[in-house]
Amino acid sequence: MTDLYENYGDVAERLLHFVETRTTDQASGIMQVPVTNYLDADRWEREKALIFKRLPLMLALSIELPNLNDYKSMTIMGLPVLITRAKDGKARAFLNVCKHRAMLMVGEGTGNCARFACQYHGWTYANDGKLIGIAEASTFGDADRDTLNLPELPCDEVAGLIFVILTPGLALDAKSWLGGMYEDFAALKLENWYYHKSRPMPGANWKVAYDGYLEGYHFQAAHTNTVATRTPSNRATYEGFGPHIRLGFPQNSITRLRELPREQWGRQENNGYDFIRMLFPNFSFFLAPEMCQFAQLFPGATPNTNVTLMNYIFPHKPETEAALAELDRMCDFFYDVVEEEDYMLGRKVQAGLESGAMTHQTFGRNEPGNQFFHKWVAYYLDETGQTPQPVMKE
Ligand code: FES
Ligand SMILES: [Fe+2]
Repeated sequence: MTDLYENYGDVAERLLHFVETRTTDQASGIMQVPVTNYLDADRWEREKALIFKRLPLMLALSIELPNLNDYKSMTIMGLPVLITRAKDGKARAFLNVCKHRAMLMVGEGTGNCARFACQYHGWTYANDGKLIGIAEASTFGDADRDTLNLPELPCDEVAGLIFVILTPGLALDAKSWLGGMYEDFAALKLENWYYHKSRPMPGANWKVAYDGYLEGYHFQAAHTNTVATRTPSNRATYEGFGPHIRLGFPQNSITRLRELPREQWGRQENNGYDFIRMLFPNFSFFLAPEMCQFAQLFPGATPNTNVTLMNYIFPHKPETEAALAELDRMCDFFYDVVEEEDYMLGRKVQAGLESGAMTHQTFGRNEPGNQFFHKWVAYYLDETGQTPQPVMKE
């Protein structure tokens, strides 16, 4: 763990240097990405098949299912997904589909239930997925019960995060998927936070939207009166961990670090600098001491749309209605900033891409996170042949 904070201290030192010298982390060159990568329906289908349906997706925090028999039921890219915590404490995921005649089982939302009854013919399942009962089994005939459990999806829980792969049978080891980001998330102790709510936010193509989380170059122009009052534009560190990214941003107040001994700089997150933690392909996590907003992006119904789930967690659950309402006001404020100053722009970018005005987008040397992200997308789509995995610094 010491290494983690030493590493943060090095990041803080670089961020301070960037502010004082008006520089930033840079890629070795500029990079062009074809506009068709954002528009082409076939590529978009491959992105869904080879990225969203094959890689671990962070679909729930542990604190959304804190108790035995808690569950969360949701639709992800049209797929009905049920996450449960059975009496053995283990998180499991299923396609939320009755094996009799494919009725969707559990209504969307969260709840607490040890067994589920299908509302069509009343078959029952335990929350570990086992078929318990066939209604009037004596009349049904011989059925191979072993094949009639809920269809299970790979699921693994680590550092307060529950990962699911949307294809049955694939291997999932969440700790190794997080790689160098594991310690980082574990240190946040997310299991102690209070999960308040999530709100969907519609937007442009998922990569247009994700691009917006991957740089701080747009802060001054797009977030003049909000983000930019805390964080200067175009000063950032980028660390790659496999396909994941930890983005460091200085605050305007970062020079206060000069008043502290150097060995304390790594302990000043949110007190001079901030991190955005990005998990490939679709997760962006901003944490401050008083609140945390994180986004889960999913391709929408068509290539030019995404649906983002904006989630809000807080250090403690307040005691009073008035204090809860205050949290809602905070959530609305952060939601509106992203909606009005990022997603609105994303929809205009989408229109610009569709206009035929240009064949390529250009990412500057000062946008290394976007370059890295698009290389990883190409890697998983196998567009790069046998080339090695992308690295942040070349
Ligand atoms: S479809 Fe579920 S019991 Fe018939
Ligand atoms: Fe933004």
